Amino acid sequence: MIRRVAVLGLGQMGQRMALNLLRSGFDLTVYNRTPESAQTLVQAGAKFAATPAEAVQNAEVVISMVRDDVASRFLWLDPDQGALSNLPEGAVAVECSTLTPAWTRELAGHFQTRQSHFLDAPVVGSTPQAASGQLVFLVGGAATDLERVQEVLQAMGSTLHHVGEIGQGMHMKLAVNAFFAGQVALLAELLMFLQPHIPPQQALEVLGNLPVISPALKVNGQLMLERKFAPMFPVQLVVKDLQCLLDTAQAGEVQVPTSSKVLEVFSAAQNQGWGEEHLAAVVKLFESHLSS
Ligand SMILES: NC(=O)c1ccc[n+]([C@@H]2O[C@H](COP(=O)([O-])OP(=O)(O)OC[C@H]3O[C@@H](n4cnc5c(N)ncnc54)[C@H](OP(=O)(O)O)[C@@H]3O)[C@@H](O)[C@H]2O)c1
Repeated sequence: MIRRVAVLGLGQMGQRMALNLLRSGFDLTVYNRTPESAQTLVQAGAKFAATPAEAVQNAEVVISMVRDDVASRFLWLDPDQGALSNLPEGAVAVECSTLTPAWTRELAGHFQTRQSHFLDAPVVGSTPQAASGQLVFLVGGAATDLERVQEVLQAMGSTLHHVGEIGQGMHMKLAVNAFFAGQVALLAELLMFLQPHIPPQQALEVLGNLPVISPALKVNGQLMLERKFAPMFPVQLVVKDLQCLLDTAQAGEVQVPTSSKVLEVFSAAQNQGWGEEHLAAVVKLFESHLSS
């Protein structure tokens, strides 16, 4: 039975995931570049470590949840503070951040050299699902490693999909996000297309009762209509993830013209200064087209 868990990265997602680990009774150590973000968790019983290396020194499982490849490289490999060199024998590292598959495989190579265990397990779901322990994990790596960390992931999520080998969790996650971002952009565009003829609330009710709309898309349509853009899955992370997908596709010589267009749309929203708003804020782009 796993007892000692470390969480590296306490942003919007990591904080909520860490709190669920505490609630499930794990002995938790946390690290974040900006220490202030750890306050609530420390008050709830977590230990704070000043560096990633210190955070993992007694861990059996390490969860990483940071922004991007650069942050992940720092956490694991920084020559002064990096966690990998201090990882106890037998511990399993679980990279839950959304990263490029290329970096994920490179990182896994460093673990392999030390004969350390590594899984990629990015998550589907945003801050509400992180808070309620309803995340879906898309896992790449050895089944034996997944089996060891299963109880830890289950404390944070409702479903585990073992997608395949290392990097395949990230591939799947990038596809899921591009799929969702594309749907949100299209819904925003079409609500504004309909607006001169059909009030958006009515249009959303009709669309929302058709099988073409997912529950998540319906929620985001309502957020558009209610002008609620407080960050959950912010525009800047959508842009980051779509860029990861495009870079990965380019390296593999795969054509992704539709995802490329979706990136253009969200980049335009970011250039408008809406990078920190929830992705539903993309609707403002089409409103401004309407009034121009
Ligand atoms: N938000 C969502 O809905 C959602 C859903 C699924 C997956 N994800 C993915 O989950 C990951 C975390 O997302 P989030 O929403 O929690 O992001 P966030 O709130 O922006 O937090 C980012 C985290 O990364 C750390 N970080 C950023 N750059 C760093 C660097 N160079 N060195 C060290 N640490 C660094 C931040 O530390 P500081 O606090 O010091 O800045 C913070 O802990 C991302 O990969 C994201 O794509 C997000």
